[in-house]
Amino acid sequence: MRNTRRSFLGGMAALPAFWATALADENLPPSQRYRRTPAPITSANQVVNVMDFEPLARAALPPAHFGYIATGADDDQTVRLNHDAYAHFGIRAHRFADLTKLDLSRTVFGQRWSSPLYLSAVSAQGAFHPEAEIATARAANSRKTQLMLSTGATAAVEDVAQACGAPHWQQLYPTDDWAVTAAIVKRAERAGASAIALTVDSQGARNNETLERAVREDNRQCTDCHINNNHAMWKGRAMFAGLDVSRVRSLTPPAQTLEYIDRLRAIVKGKLILKGIVTGEDAAAALAHGADGIVVSNHGGRNEETLRATVDCLPEVVAAVRGRIPVFIDGGIRRGTDIFKALAMGATAVGIGRPQVWGLAAFGQSGVEAVIDIYHRELATMMRQAGTPSLERIVSTDIVKAS
Ligand code: FNR
Repeated sequence: MRNTRRSFLGGMAALPAFWATALADENLPPSQRYRRTPAPITSANQVVNVMDFEPLARAALPPAHFGYIATGADDDQTVRLNHDAYAHFGIRAHRFADLTKLDLSRTVFGQRWSSPLYLSAVSAQGAFHPEAEIATARAANSRKTQLMLSTGATAAVEDVAQACGAPHWQQLYPTDDWAVTAAIVKRAERAGASAIALTVDSQGARNNETLERAVREDNRQCTDCHINNNHAMWKGRAMFAGLDVSRVRSLTPPAQTLEYIDRLRAIVKGKLILKGIVTGEDAAAALAHGADGIVVSNHGGRNEETLRATVDCLPEVVAAVRGRIPVFIDGGIRRGTDIFKALAMGATAVGIGRPQVWGLAAFGQSGVEAVIDIYHRELATMMRQAGTPSLERIVSTDIVKAS
């Protein structure tokens, strides 16, 4: 069969570039054979799936900045597992449904979202595109998608809030100085944040070897942008402007205990989300201490090499919460089918980290929009195929453990 096709194509006078690429890649599995795009991609809407934005981001960025996106902890195995674990679940597709109307919308904390997808906190977006979080916020606005803004954002929260056009969620690295914590919460809420998302999975220094290697590959002078080559978030990022950070030694307090959660709960006026929960016990404790929402997250595998994919942590968290508050999940979500599976397991919505900044690095606002559009299109396709015209119709029996 292969020989037949080869001789047929070999007889063609001018071999189109597409076929030339396919032939060159014949030793690859079919799914990867056509990944190498023959023509250069010049606009975001030419990109086939969200993973294809990664090499474009790599090409657009200096090694250290791409390394900052890509890195996991230790051997990056948890990063890979976060996505690969979705392949351990199959979807039981049902026929005979009325699919005349497809509804991807979801209500979260009383707000109607266009879909169950939100943009999770990604810091320092000025390292990926000159318009930084403003471009991301504009994309969130045009696609009616929830944005969670990092404490370590390049852009000022007031400007992002305006570009967003709807209340954003403010991710919180509280630091170890309560005065700074209180000031960040106040400023974010004044700018219109409807929720504070405290990150609970970042306990000090982490081992990001992929980043370290990438930095060594990068021959630019970091000091051109990073004052005194200092990458500490509280020195120079917009959220800390005007604050006295002289007592800050770390992004999180050394004792981020349940008493600390109580103290924070008392000053947060809107919703309080705890981001980074991976066990049922912690989920129950979070709920008991006033959390309005939980994000099942391991920080995209950047902080800890637990070898537990977030989708494998989701069931115990959902079981502990028993529907009383929304459970969100992030980590490795790269396909509409991944979203479908997370929802079937009880997630209210899913967050994405790296894909949004691959899109941003490659094409700015239109790149982030294209990333969101692809997720929406793929989710819609799976919903039609599974016979689930609305998100409420996606239930636990729609998935099975794949053999
Ligand atoms: C992050 N993430 C993150 N989380 C957070 O709570 N505060 C932050 O400032 C950041 N910054 C950040 C920077 C970069 C470059 C990345 C890639 C990630 C983690 C993020 O919110 C999310 O939990 C993961 O990225 C989700 O995993 P995926 O989608 O990247 O696999």
